[in-house]
Parts: sequence; structure tokens; C-alpha cells
Amino acid sequence: MDRLHSGMSSWHLAVLLVLASLLYFTTLVVWRLYFSPTAGFPGSRLAAATGWYESYYDYWLNGQYMFEVERMHQKYGPIIRVNPDELSIHDPSFYNEVYVTRNIRCTNNYDHLLKGINFADSHFLTADHDLHRKRRKPLEPFFSRAGVTNLQPMLSELARRMETRIQEFKDQHLPIRLDHVFTAFTGDAIQKLCLGEDAKFLSGPDFSPECFPVAREKATSHIQRVLQERGKPKGTVSLFRFIVHQSDMPKSELSEDRLINEAQTLLGAGTASASSAMRLASYYILSRPGLQNRLQTELGDVMADWPHQGPTWAQLEALPLLQAIVKESLRLSYGTVRRLPRVFPNDDIQYKEHVIPRGVGVPLLELEPKLSL
Ligand code: HEM
Repeated sequence: MDRLHSGMSSWHLAVLLVLASLLYFTTLVVWRLYFSPTAGFPGSRLAAATGWYESYYDYWLNGQYMFEVERMHQKYGPIIRVNPDELSIHDPSFYNEVYVTRNIRCTNNYDHLLKGINFADSHFLTADHDLHRKRRKPLEPFFSRAGVTNLQPMLSELARRMETRIQEFKDQHLPIRLDHVFTAFTGDAIQKLCLGEDAKFLSGPDFSPECFPVAREKATSHIQRVLQERGKPKGTVSLFRFIVHQSDMPKSELSEDRLINEAQTLLGAGTASASSAMRLASYYILSRPGLQNRLQTELGDVMADWPHQGPTWAQLEALPLLQAIVKESLRLSYGTVRRLPRVFPNDDIQYKEHVIPRGVGVPLLELEPKLSL
């Protein structure tokens, strides 16, 4: 009798749980579809009702949601909901409204897309506007015009090394993976800048395709060493030596874990995006003999003293065809394929007849950029 009684109780409990869950999910979906701040925006009802729609494409179909977002834009127009909390705008003319400086509007990064990728607390993945600013400030001298101008001798040296290695392959009639070559070049450059070390990826027999996995290891040992240094810093001024010993970064921001994540972000971003732009440029230059000839002619004067003397950045900037190629390569080679939403915590913004409420994530998409050279 007791067993029957306890069986009935469990059964009742289970029914109650199912009913409570049903009620909860129904209320949630009704709220998302009719009452949430993004409720009035166009788009798929399913995507608006549940995040599982996005998960299905990204998890089960292996990262396909971006193509579904493109399809939804074609169907529902330039502004759509891509999940219960986030919008997407496909309208290049609105770019300067979304990506703005502090003077125009306080902007946060979008929390949901910052989690689970192991770079916690790096400035790149910091949601709050002011904290992001504080974490980025000490890096700025290294990426300013003056900072990059100081890198010229190092970059010329690496370019000479790259040329020598390509020549070696040519002399031996060996095929060459240009993606590995450019990744080794940018990997060597960013490691020298951030860690003050010559990683010598370009000198590896096959251009060190393993440079990504070793980045975290190298960053960890450099940061541990720098954090232990006392008194006047030893060794080359690396970006991280500067942050730890010479910047006014508060102690709370100098934990080993945060700095390692920061270093890995910089090494990854500095290696992958720049090398992919170089790869794209080289493909289009090599596959268009007319373009290649024009570029060689344009470079003739500034490269006259190569390899003894490399051209300066100012000289290269004055070459219109080279500049056009650099800009097109940056435009077409995408830094990242994920959405880059911005959140405005204090301001609603107007897009055509829609008011985008404060606090809602909104990325701007450029779909299928076309080659214009
Ligand atoms: C072809 C070259 C590059 C492209 C196309 C590119 C693209 C991008 C894009 C689209 C973003 C914005 C991400 C966002 O808004 O969430 C970004 C941010 C960033 N990139 Fe690059 N990038 C390039 C080169 C580099 C290099 C050489 C570095 C060197 C370290 C670098 C480090 C970073 C960092 C640290 C951020 C975050 C900036 C911040 O949050 O303030 N990138 N990049």
C-alpha cells in the first residue's frame, strides 16, 4: 500500500513538473513573441521564439547559421531578429551608426557571444565599455602610427627572411604553401612585438604550421617570467613587459590568467587575420598577370635598394595601386566570421521606421562583398 502511495506521489510530482515546465516555456515564448523589447521586429517566428533555432544551425549543422541569417535577410528585409534577444541589420549605409566612438554613444560588447572561448577578460572580449577602454589603453602606443613606424626595421628583416625561404623552395622546384608562409611571417612579427622573442616560424622546414598551438605555451612562459621580474625590466621591451612594468594598468588587471588570455588573443588575432589578407591579395595578384605587372612597375622605384634597404611605410602609402590592393584585401578577407553585435546601454537608436531599444544586441552584416579591382 505504501509502495502504491509513494508510486502515485512520484507520478503526481512528474506530472506537476511537466505541467510547470510547459507553463514556463509557453509563457517565455509568448513573452518573446509579443512583449519583449525585440517583439515588433521582422524575422522568423521560430528564431524569435527560441535560441535552439540558432543552436541547431551552429551546433548540428556545424556553423551554418550565418548562411541562414543571410537567407532570412533576403526573405524578411534589412532588419531582422536572429534569436530572441538579438537583431541583425544588413545595410552598409548604417555602418557608422552602429560602430561608433564614446563621444557619440557609450557602447558595450555583446555578452552572449563572449563566453566559452577561453579568452575571458582579454580586452577584446570585455563587455563593459569603460573596462574595455581601461584594458586597451596600454596597448595603444604599440598600434599607433608611431608604434607601427618603429616596427619597420623588424618587418623588413622578416620580409628578407621570407624572400630567402621562398627562393630556397624555388631553387629546389618544391611546391610551397603560401598560407603557411604568410602565417609564419605574421606569427613571427606579432610574437616579436608582444613577447619580444624571435619565434623563427619562417625558419621552420615547412614554415611551422604548428604556430597556433604553441602560442599559448610561449605566452604563458613569457608572462610568468615578466611577472617575476623585479627592478628595471630585463630583456627587450615587449608589449607585455610594458604593460606590467611601465603602464599605469591597475594591479587588479595584472593577474597571470588575464594576461595570458590577453596575449593569446593578440597572438591569434595578429597572426590569423593579417595572414589571411596577405593570402587573399597574393591569390588575386598572381592570378591576374596584368595586375601583377602594374604592381611590379609601381613598386620599382621604392624597391630599388632592396634587399639592402626596404621602403618606408610613408613611401608605400604613396602608391595608389598598392593602397587599393591593401584596402580591397582587408575588405574581402574578413577579420572574423562571427557576428559583431554592439549594445547601447543608454540610448535607443532609430533605423528607418524601427526604434532599436537600448540594451539589445545589434550587429551589422555585409553580405557577399564583391571584388572591385
Ligand atoms: C588583416 C588584418 C586584420 C583584420 C581584417 C582584422 C579584423 C578585426 C575586426 C573585424 C575586429 C573587430 C572585432 C569586434 O568588433 O568584435 C578586430 C579587432 C581586433 N583585432 Fe584585428 N584585424 C586584423 C589585424 C589585426 C592585427 C595585426 C592585430 C594585432 C594584434 C589585431 C588585433 C585585434 C584586437 C586586439 C582586436 C580587438 C580590439 C578591441 O576590442 O578594442 N588585428 N580585428
